[in-house]
Amino acid sequence: MSAPSDAFVLPRTGRTVRNRSVLAAMTNKQSHEDGTLSDEEIHWLTMRAKGGFGIITTAAANVTETGRGWEGEMGVWGDHQLPGLTKMATEIRQHGALSLVQIFHGGMRAPEAINGVQPVSASVNTEAGMEGSTRRLSEPEVSKLVQDFAEAARRCHAAGFDGVELHGAHSYLICQFLGQHTNRREDEWGGSYRARIGFLFAIIDAVRACTPPDFLVFVRISPLIEKMGIHLEESLRLAEDLAQAKVDGLHISCWDVFQDVEDDDERLMTKRFADAVPNGFPLISTGAVWSSEDAQFVLDEGADLVGVGRVAIGHPDWPFHLANEGYDPQRPPFSAEHLADAGLSPVFIDYMRRWKNFVE
Ligand SMILES: Cc1cc2nc3c(=O)[nH]c(=O)nc-3n(C[C@H](O)[C@H](O)[C@H](O)COP(=O)(O)O)c2cc1C
Repeated sequence: MSAPSDAFVLPRTGRTVRNRSVLAAMTNKQSHEDGTLSDEEIHWLTMRAKGGFGIITTAAANVTETGRGWEGEMGVWGDHQLPGLTKMATEIRQHGALSLVQIFHGGMRAPEAINGVQPVSASVNTEAGMEGSTRRLSEPEVSKLVQDFAEAARRCHAAGFDGVELHGAHSYLICQFLGQHTNRREDEWGGSYRARIGFLFAIIDAVRACTPPDFLVFVRISPLIEKMGIHLEESLRLAEDLAQAKVDGLHISCWDVFQDVEDDDERLMTKRFADAVPNGFPLISTGAVWSSEDAQFVLDEGADLVGVGRVAIGHPDWPFHLANEGYDPQRPPFSAEHLADAGLSPVFIDYMRRWKNFVE
C-alpha cells in the first residue's frame, strides 16, 4: 500500500508528483475587480507550495468575464491576467509543486448583479438565493463557451502552469450540463447521458487541441447532487468514460470521505470510484481529511492522491508532516492571528468567518 509521503507518477505524461497531497481549489476572494491576481493570492498559494504540497490547485478561475460567481474571483479570460498568472505559476514551480488552475463558468450561479447580464445555463433554471431565472444557451453560444474554456487553458499554459482542472463539480456550468434536471435540452447537448456529458468532453478535446501533450488536464466532479439530477450511477459511468479520454485524472469532491452513501452497498464513495475506473487511472478524493491517518485511509480506499482544503488553510506545511503517522494538527476555530501567520490576508480571513466555527 502507498503512503501519503510517497511520490506518484502520473501515467499519461510520466510527470512525478513529489507526494500524494493535493491542495484542493479554494476560493479566497483576493483577486482584483478585473480578475487579475493580487500579491496576497499569489503569496497564500506559494506558501503551500513551499509547505510541500505535491499539486497546488488555484481558486476557481473564470473563463469569461460574464460568468463570474462572486466578487474577488480569479479570472483567466483575458491576456491582461497573464502577468499575475505567470508570477504565480513561476513561484509555485520554484518550490517543487505541480500547479493546476481550476477553470470554470458560473452558469446559473453567476448573478446578474455582478455580471450585468442574465445568467445562462444548459436550460432555463432557477437557483436558490438568486433573483429571476436563467436563459438557455443557444447552440452557437455553447460552442463559443467550449472555445472560451480552451482559450483559458491555453492562457494557463502560456503562463507556465502545469495544467488545468475542469470544474465539473458544485453546481456550476459544466455540472449544470451534466445534471438530468438542469439539462433538459433536446439538441445535441442534452437529453441522453451521452449528450449531457458532451459539453465536458468537447471542452476536453478543445483544451487538448490548443495545449501540448504534456499539459495536465484533470476533471473535478460532485458524485451526487440529487436536486440537479446528478446521480451516482451516472457519475460512476462518467468516471469510466473519463478514464478512456485524454485526461490525467479524476478528482471527486466528497465533502466528507468518511460519510456513508445511503444505499445497500457498504463501500464509501472513494472506494466506489476506485473500483469503477481501470487500474492506473489517477483518482483524487477530497473531504474532511485532517490527520495523517485520515490521509492514509483515503489511499487505502483506493485513491492515488489525497485532496485537502481547510486543514491547509490552518497548516501551510501539512504535507511535510505526513510521514509522521500520528500527525493530527490543531482543528478550527483558528484565531485571526494564526491565520495571518499562515499567509491569509484580512480579506481571506473575513471570508473564512462565513465558514461555521472556522475563525475564533
Ligand atoms: C474557503 C473555501 C473555498 C472553496 N472554494 C472552492 C473552489 O473554488 N472550487 C472547488 O472546487 N471547491 C472549493 N472548495 C471546496 C474544497 O475544494 C474542498 O473540496 C472542501 O473544502 C472539502 O475539503 P476539506 O474538508 O479538506 O476542506 C472550497 C472550500 C473552502 C473551505
